[in-house]
Amino acid sequence: MPLLEVVNLTHYFGGLRAVKQYNLSIESGQIHGLIGPNGAGKTTVFNLITGIHKPSEGSITLEGASLLGLRPYQVAARGLGRTFQNMLLWRHMTVLDHVKLAHHAQLGYGLIGAFFGTPRRNAAEARIEENAFRLLETFNVAQFARQIVTNLPYGVQRRVEMARAMAIRPKILFLDEPTAGMTPEELDQMIVIIRKLHQEFKVAILLIEHRLKFVMTLCDHIQTLVFGEVIAEGSPDEIKGNPAVIEAYLGKEEVA
Ligand SMILES: Nc1ncnc2c1ncn2[C@@H]1O[C@H](COP(=O)(O)OP(=O)(O)OP(=O)(O)O)[C@@H](O)[C@H]1O
Ligand SMILES: [Mg+2]
Repeated sequence: MPLLEVVNLTHYFGGLRAVKQYNLSIESGQIHGLIGPNGAGKTTVFNLITGIHKPSEGSITLEGASLLGLRPYQVAARGLGRTFQNMLLWRHMTVLDHVKLAHHAQLGYGLIGAFFGTPRRNAAEARIEENAFRLLETFNVAQFARQIVTNLPYGVQRRVEMARAMAIRPKILFLDEPTAGMTPEELDQMIVIIRKLHQEFKVAILLIEHRLKFVMTLCDHIQTLVFGEVIAEGSPDEIKGNPAVIEAYLGKEEVA
């Protein structure tokens, strides 16, 4: 059974068909890329699977159980973590608190423990802080732990957002343009970080990206979406040589 399976997903915004009969099958530990020009429907696919929009048609299952009709937090609790195209971080909060707060979704000490500092609460807090630091280290941001996140460079903020998404220990992580706005050096660092994350946590990844170097280097399998439809899919080599993909990207960036 695939980890995540999407069959015939279709979505309309009013009269606009943003996604048409989209299919996806991801196995545990796979890195799957989703590329395509602006407005192709990539983020809409994420928002449909993560419960932000309700699809007009189609089925979505994670480990064989349907995600249809679940709220975004319920989808997250099933094991799906995500980041957003326009980073969603909490202003005035430290890097460490971002990741700790995400961990709290899984706590078991209750309100009384939270007020009175029971031993169970203290042990849980210590464990959370340790896990949070481990994640911050994976993303090379531990040195910023006590700083307010919005004061930090853009590339660092992106990595904090990813660390927060990993705090729920997802089976699959959705990343929406993780390198948007990054310098070439930051992009190379991000490749290393995603490899490390993938190895360390054995997490499957669904990656939306415009930077083709990034997708081609990291992904096992790539789909190209144009006007809501998959026009080509396959290994990085198959996608690289596909004339329809080159056409879709003409004038944007070299397929290399
Ligand atoms: N909430 C919404 N309401 C109405 N139309 C929407 C909404 N979200 C997206 N769309 C439209 O659906 C289409 C697909 O948008 P989407 O954001 O999924 O594209 P994308 O592939 O992520 O593009 P980009 O690379 O620019 O992020 C576009 O025509 C967009 O204008
Ligand atoms: Mg998008």
